[in-house]
Amino acid sequence: MNDLFPAEDFDDWAADYDEDVETASSFPFDGYAQVLRLIVEKAAAGSGAAVMDLGIGTGNLAERFARQGCQIWGLDFSAQMLVRAASKLPGATLGQADLRAEWPQDFQRRYDAIVSAYTFHHFTLPEKAGLVLRLLQEHLAPGGRLVIGDVSFGNAKERDSLKLQLGDEWEDEYYWLADETSAAFAKQGIQTTYLQVSFCAGVFEFVKR
Ligand SMILES: C[S@@+](CC[C@H](N)C(=O)[O-])C[C@H]1O[C@@H](n2cnc3c(N)ncnc32)[C@H](O)[C@@H]1O
Repeated sequence: MNDLFPAEDFDDWAADYDEDVETASSFPFDGYAQVLRLIVEKAAAGSGAAVMDLGIGTGNLAERFARQGCQIWGLDFSAQMLVRAASKLPGATLGQADLRAEWPQDFQRRYDAIVSAYTFHHFTLPEKAGLVLRLLQEHLAPGGRLVIGDVSFGNAKERDSLKLQLGDEWEDEYYWLADETSAAFAKQGIQTTYLQVSFCAGVFEFVKR
């Protein structure tokens, strides 16, 4: 795990995070509100459903599920992000952990929906694949949904054309490419559905065949 951005970087960002994403109309957060809306729609979690938000940050996605009467669990490796999430989500079970490592005991259960926004692009493709497989095998309840929204492109050509257009504004991270994801995950028996939401973001749903 050789992180481009360690937890301390997110601690430093926590105080300004909400303002940054709410006012964003450019790369990489263009479409942020639509991405969160589509995740909620695709997760289809009704009142009382157990929802896990991975990389919960300041709680913007989880808050939408809490308003629908869902029970919220959230993990994040940044203590300062979790402080903000806790203030928005009084009834939630929150924990500090690296998502790719062993989770704390309270989180070792199955969930009716597992969701995540703008977090997995910090992980390499093999890390994404390993974590998604673990989620489907060990943490998703029967009939549950796994929905992930993030910075993503249909393929490398689309990503590279934006990179060229943005020049110095581009920041290299492990952004999702829908075509390579679909091919790599299929080898593990995982079926991928993808919807592009803005020029730089989209929403994935994963199902174990
Ligand atoms: C860009 S923020 C997204 C926050 C929130 N999901 C949202 O959509 O607003 C990325 C979040 O992922 C968390 N994160 C990044 N890498 C992580 C890791 N390896 N384990 C746990 N959390 C991680 C960061 O601390 C941060 O809160």
